[in-house]
Amino acid sequence: MCGIIGYIGQREASSILIGGLKCLEYRGYDSAGMAVFDGQNIQDIKIKGKIFGLAKALEKKNLPGKLGIAHTRWATHGAPSIINAHPHFCCSRHIAIVHNGIIENYANLRKVLIKEGHHFSSETDSEVLAHLIEKYHKHKSLTKAIQLALKQVIGAYALVVISATEPQKMIAIKKSSSLILGLGQKEYLLASDASAIIPHTKKVIYLDDNEMVVLSKNGYRIHNLGNNHLIKKKVETINWNLTQISKDGFKTFMLKEIFEQPESIANAFRGRFIPEKGQIKLGGLETIESKLPHLSRIIIVACGSSWHAGLVGGSLIEELAKIPVKVEYASEFRYRYPVVGPDCLVIAISQSGETADTIAALELAKTKKALTFGICNVVGSSIARLVDAGAYLHAGPEIGVATTKGFTSQLIVLTILAIHFANLKKTINRKNAQKILKELTRLPVLIKKLLDQSGSLAELAQKLKNTHNCLYLGRGYNFPIALEGALKLKEISYIHAEGYPAAEMKHGPIALIDKKMPTIFIATQDKTYKKIISNMLEVKARNGMIIALATVGDKKITSIADKVIYIPRTIDFLMPVLNTIPCQLLAYHIAILKGHDIDKPRNLAKSVTVE
Ligand code: G6P
Repeated sequence: MCGIIGYIGQREASSILIGGLKCLEYRGYDSAGMAVFDGQNIQDIKIKGKIFGLAKALEKKNLPGKLGIAHTRWATHGAPSIINAHPHFCCSRHIAIVHNGIIENYANLRKVLIKEGHHFSSETDSEVLAHLIEKYHKHKSLTKAIQLALKQVIGAYALVVISATEPQKMIAIKKSSSLILGLGQKEYLLASDASAIIPHTKKVIYLDDNEMVVLSKNGYRIHNLGNNHLIKKKVETINWNLTQISKDGFKTFMLKEIFEQPESIANAFRGRFIPEKGQIKLGGLETIESKLPHLSRIIIVACGSSWHAGLVGGSLIEELAKIPVKVEYASEFRYRYPVVGPDCLVIAISQSGETADTIAALELAKTKKALTFGICNVVGSSIARLVDAGAYLHAGPEIGVATTKGFTSQLIVLTILAIHFANLKKTINRKNAQKILKELTRLPVLIKKLLDQSGSLAELAQKLKNTHNCLYLGRGYNFPIALEGALKLKEISYIHAEGYPAAEMKHGPIALIDKKMPTIFIATQDKTYKKIISNMLEVKARNGMIIALATVGDKKITSIADKVIYIPRTIDFLMPVLNTIPCQLLAYHIAILKGHDIDKPRNLAKSVTVE
């Protein structure tokens, strides 16, 4: 997820663009750039690092002009670097673009364009857009060229284009990535979110998917990308202030990230399977594909929440692909004498890609000649560079220290990986693979339903905020979610919480149960449902307070639990994704009531680069 901004009007573009980028910086900050039309050519500056660096570079090199675009990047394709920073140009440098989103078919488009003689300067997916538009612009207007180019593009984009050949224009298109048009006095702005616009105007138009806006300093036209029909859009007035919307209107980054999950999850699976064939297409696996049949086992190494995701992933792989999997704390693995060898695939899971213990575990695996695979969110991170192959989460930058969307995206990538291994080993039939993949695509809608329950979880938080201890219980695929729920509560509310396999409760934790101690049961209906109900009755018999996560329609549970949170129905493999959401929201609301710094909880760090 990156931040983009464009300006056309009477004022100098560069100062407006740099101010806008500062507001958008939370969306990504590994590199940044700006391009301004100076009356003859499009000039640009790009830097690696934060907006501060771009502002400094601008002090040295002035970019005069009243038409310009700028971008702050959170790398997805290609490491953070100056060459990969936007804006991207076509071969003749007449066209410059900034893009937020993912071009799924960029590899094919790039191949064809290179054959046709185009020269690429970056490793990004975005650059194909500049060349594709250039290809059609030779004989067509800029507007028409963009329309023809986008007909060939599969993926998500908020795209802003300028051209030295039609310098009185700025053109933008939105599909699946946010884009807002700001209407000023003889000037217009385009930006990924309103924070970059409101210092200049509060009048905005929220663009919808497949809408194209053509701007000049004297007016704008919005039409449908496909059929050119003009669209009359409502002009809205923003009544937020700047501070509120620097987190996109959310009170904290963590809440924003929790609410981003329908989108981040879709980004984790988008373009990664062929539904009608039940097949997975994971580009990152291609380089090691031929070695996979020779592997006899898998070891997953990770820390913190990523380890919890690994536990779910390990069970999925064993069940679907029948490959033995061991899930290890990276910090333990590195100091044990583990049996690892060339027959072994070591999967490192890490949101940041920088966790010191996970890096060390990987290094150890490499010395033992194991094949290594990374599941990371941050592109170009140490782990992403260290492994033989890998898959990114594409979750966008996660700023809240306690991971939320990173965790659920890990679950998605692991599910996809498990199906892929199962396909390779022929342990799954096409119908079953199709069924799982179909359910995967329903998750964003189901998650939206769960997010709607945020208000009732805030009410529950009122009841729990003064508790000192809390127990989370689950079984099977949901045992790691009990661990994750307890960890979330610990991390941000500072309440002691423990996650346990429900059946283990009677081997110790049951001694803690009394009327002051809440137990959160993950009791959605699967093969252990009846057993969990028995555990619940054991807690009830000891006057414990029971909160149950239950499948929609489960009426029986209301007679046992003090509070029921209903979870929509999906297949067992994917229930962990849904059950995670209320656990995140509950921890969040309790921490808010306790007045804690949600995004930067005490003593924690987002990326643990020390042992
Ligand atoms: C820190 C974070 C956790 C995260 C863990 C592992 O403790 O606060 O949210 O789960 O590190 O981080 P990684 O980046 O390797 O997933």
